[in-house]
Amino acid sequence: MTKTILITGSSRGLGATIARTLATQGHNVIINYFKSKDLAKQLVREIGESQAIALPADITDRNQVDEMIAHATEHFGQIDAVVNNALVGFKFDPTAQKAFIDLSWDDYQQQLDGTLKGAFNVTQAVIKQFITRKTGTIVSIGTNLYQNPVVPYHEYTTAKAGLIGFTRNIAAELGQYGINANVVSGGLLKTTDASAVTTQEVFDLIAQTTPLRQVTSPQDVANMVSYLISDQAKGITGQNFTVDGGLTMN
Ligand SMILES: NC(=O)c1ccc[n+]([C@@H]2O[C@H](COP(=O)([O-])OP(=O)(O)OC[C@H]3O[C@@H](n4cnc5c(N)ncnc54)[C@H](OP(=O)(O)O)[C@@H]3O)[C@@H](O)[C@H]2O)c1
Repeated sequence: MTKTILITGSSRGLGATIARTLATQGHNVIINYFKSKDLAKQLVREIGESQAIALPADITDRNQVDEMIAHATEHFGQIDAVVNNALVGFKFDPTAQKAFIDLSWDDYQQQLDGTLKGAFNVTQAVIKQFITRKTGTIVSIGTNLYQNPVVPYHEYTTAKAGLIGFTRNIAAELGQYGINANVVSGGLLKTTDASAVTTQEVFDLIAQTTPLRQVTSPQDVANMVSYLISDQAKGITGQNFTVDGGLTMN
């Protein structure tokens, strides 16, 4: 069944891979961007304008999110699924990461806003139409650092841990309306802009200690997202799926 799916932060990185994957399967995609307008428009041209639209919104700003949801709903008629993917102001740079003693609450607040407030805004803005139609899917992107903080990215990882609590509550309350919500937690991705600054030493360490002996690719994560959006996954909710080649095990 063809669906219409909003992917936050899909102008580049993992979000763009998710959008391409879903579009290849015949779905309509809403490419949300913040600053990379040209990349978002280029992706729409690549996918085709009948199947994709690029819309700006800072996901931490509720008014901008409401405007984006209204615009996308008018354009495609409805939204069937959202992927909370955007990464706000963070790079996986082990040499630049502050030690806990040097962190400020502002560092924490920025990640709480980007990850949790962003998911809150987008999910709440779309949920009314999901409840009315008694169906809808929410997939949020997490991290395996939650289970194995191989590099202690405190503020990032703690916000992503909160996303699991957010998802379980959405699943518990809204399952009665046919809405499912899950998290896909990726391992370090080779590579997106955010992980391009990760040192080769960290990539090598992860590959050597991972059962599948390789670092996770954006496509690995996109494949799991695509499955969770499919009708085959309608019986699954409130879960956190780790896609990291087996580095962490539940
Ligand atoms: N990279 C990894 O190793 C890795 C590993 C595990 C999980 N993840 C997760 O994968 C997801 C994507 O990460 P990534 O590595 O692809 O990041 P990335 O390469 O830095 O891309 C970030 C994306 O988020 C968008 N964005 C930034 N601020 C935004 C805002 N305020 N509102 C809306 N969109 C905004 C950017 O849009 P513009 O360019 O248009 O501003 C861009 O499309 C994140 O949830 C991240 O936590 C990544």
